[in-house]
Amino acid sequence: MPFSARYIHYIKSHCASQRRILSILVKTFFGTFLLCGIWASRPASAQVTAPSQSAGIADKSLDARVDSILRRMTLAEKIGQLVQYSAGQPTGPGTGRSDYDDMIARGQIGSLFNVNDPHEINKYQKIAMEKSRLHIPILFGLDVIHGFKTEFPIPLGLASTWDPTIVEKASRVAAMEAAADGIRWTFSPMVDIARDARWGRMAEGAGEDPFLGSAMAAAYVRGYQGSRLDAPDSIAACAKHYVGYGAAEAGRDYNSTEISEHKLRQFYMPPFHAAVEAGTASLMSAFNSLNGIPSSANPFTLKQVLRREWGYRGLVVSDWNAVGELIPHGIANDGATAARKAFLAGVDMDMVSSLYHDHLEQIVKSGQATQAEVDEAVRHVLRVKLALGLFEHPYVDEGAAAKALYHPESIALAQTAAERSFVLLKNTNGTGGKPLLPLAGGSQNIVVIGPLGDDSSYPGGAPPGSGPRVSLVAALAQRVGESHVSRFKGVGILDGTDQEIADAVAGAQKADVVILTLGEAPEMSGEAASRAHLGLPGRQKELLEAVVRTGKPVVLILFSGRPLTVPWAFEHVPAVIAAWLPGIAGGPALARTLFGDVNPSGKLVVSWPRAVGQEPLYYNHLNTGRPAGDMDLTRPPSDVASRYLSRYIDEQNTPQFPFGYGDSYTTYSYGGTIISTPRLSAATLNKRLGSGEDVAPPMTAEAEVTNTGSRPGEEVVQLYIQLTGTSVAEPVRMLKGFQSISIAPGETTKVKFELKPDAFAIWNNRNQFTVEAAKLNVWISPDSAQGSPAKAEILP
Ligand code: BGC
Repeated sequence: MPFSARYIHYIKSHCASQRRILSILVKTFFGTFLLCGIWASRPASAQVTAPSQSAGIADKSLDARVDSILRRMTLAEKIGQLVQYSAGQPTGPGTGRSDYDDMIARGQIGSLFNVNDPHEINKYQKIAMEKSRLHIPILFGLDVIHGFKTEFPIPLGLASTWDPTIVEKASRVAAMEAAADGIRWTFSPMVDIARDARWGRMAEGAGEDPFLGSAMAAAYVRGYQGSRLDAPDSIAACAKHYVGYGAAEAGRDYNSTEISEHKLRQFYMPPFHAAVEAGTASLMSAFNSLNGIPSSANPFTLKQVLRREWGYRGLVVSDWNAVGELIPHGIANDGATAARKAFLAGVDMDMVSSLYHDHLEQIVKSGQATQAEVDEAVRHVLRVKLALGLFEHPYVDEGAAAKALYHPESIALAQTAAERSFVLLKNTNGTGGKPLLPLAGGSQNIVVIGPLGDDSSYPGGAPPGSGPRVSLVAALAQRVGESHVSRFKGVGILDGTDQEIADAVAGAQKADVVILTLGEAPEMSGEAASRAHLGLPGRQKELLEAVVRTGKPVVLILFSGRPLTVPWAFEHVPAVIAAWLPGIAGGPALARTLFGDVNPSGKLVVSWPRAVGQEPLYYNHLNTGRPAGDMDLTRPPSDVASRYLSRYIDEQNTPQFPFGYGDSYTTYSYGGTIISTPRLSAATLNKRLGSGEDVAPPMTAEAEVTNTGSRPGEEVVQLYIQLTGTSVAEPVRMLKGFQSISIAPGETTKVKFELKPDAFAIWNNRNQFTVEAAKLNVWISPDSAQGSPAKAEILP
């Protein structure tokens, strides 16, 4: 299934190399700054760029050109610009249409997607440029999600790096490869907040936090769009799915959502706003209904917030057939009504449903929508096409496409990204009381057991065999010699026999160390892949237990698009790594990690549940009126004091591993959090809200972090705050900053954060973004569950 848009794991990209050469490095984001340290990397061919404001959709000089084209268009031609079809592998129910050549010649199609062959792209484009009356180029789109052909870790893995720079570089590479193929529009990034691991699309986003999600959203947009959208290697981004899609009830894909305006603005909208601020050329309206109104027919989110409040000038495309789905949603009884409702709500382009093509002309002629409204929607489309330089350069150089793929530096970046995406969940019980990982070099015999070891890049996306990829087994063999690596599948993802398990156990018995590669097949996360059970699928748990019973040292590598509930493993397996779906260079990246060439530094961007019944599970929850506090929840309640609390009687409240957590081969100790002032003034902060980076920070917070182990390490230092006494209950903690620092053994680094006025503002009980008088806790900590806060007050 290469290049189809249905699934997150089918697009790959290439990119540029990045080598870390100094021991202290810094990444800063938003209001957070590390004041000591240097970020050093070798110049990369994929340059990290400033936001694409010049020649982007915000470029006012495009308006005159847009209007001059508009003046020449008939109503039918205008509507044509608002129509999009999938001309390749379908990724949802289709219309059955295939007469695209004729439609393009008549000016009835503005965009096509799922066409991946440059020759075919040029064929369609030639019709648009030569046969259509106004020669308006077609905009070709595709789900380029974690790379085009050089495939990076899935977005959940990329986010686990906590490194917007690497996300930007990866997206730049994806853009270069896709653009060389003729694709100038990606339906990415997915910036939906995901709090429920049952929802398979958690794999496609940056997790549960709006601050980190905003950082990642902006990084993707900058990477795809480059410094100029009209550069030949830039592509238009599409922030999706606007909005609230990740809150699907019960984690079931496409399900309804009920989200208060407060929650929507505080948690679900910020990453979209960040994408808009970064200049995203497009946004996709979501499938889900939001408080009873489908997101693809919601004037509040699409017009009031997006256009009026945020001043967005780009294009809004519906999700796949989302206009048609207004009928099953129950707010339209026929296609004409569905088209009218979506259009009037602010959906500019109709993906696939064909209902704009079928009905919009009549809707305008009957006065239900105005010509001016059509003009405005068409402006959004033309602005993107002009900003991309498509009118000047409509065709792709068919000979150049292949040359852009799989550059060595792109593979190297994919490997770095994979290495930094792994989260070491547990590391205990090696010989001599030392942790099992990293493995000692030398001539030990390794056995790789499990369904996912042969082509560990496959769980990242592309089918085995595509692109230059090395499996985990091959990477280990390269490292320790083939004769020292044996291989047993043990079981399949969903099936397996007693004999296969017995063979694997026999193999384990002969080895010095076992690498167990278990988890989900690629198609078990992503779209339409909700799960009601979050454990290991099929007979994998049996295999796990049988192998562990051999008493051999076992390293479990979990491949998945979500956290998996495997409490038995966390209790009995000495070392566990969450590898997500690591992409084209996953094999070598894992081998290097196992042997300690790299020290794991990834941290969780989602709370890892103990049991599926805890979902939705997220760190930034409210306290409730009956918080369990320090109560021991490992036992059932035994009296009134332990019962009438917000708790389960059969499971703890806390996650298996909290948001922000990730172990390392070294250890760190954190000094106390020191803040620059114990008092702030809400009135003063409100005057300075939104005044940007130049404003002197009203508060700084710092802490010393020491590498107390014996290896150099990279630590993601996190800053959280809590506000109490506000008009609306606020979360127990909210991330407001993060920095990665590299620290040598024995070294202490002072990490300093600046908190700008916005950090203290909340969406209050009147849904105004404002700072209120409050008590304030500030933590600098290694994850969302540790540390003691510094205390301050915000006076009125
Ligand atoms: C997905 C989108 C995707 C679109 C086009 C839909 O089913 O929800 O994320 O961009 O298909 O492939």
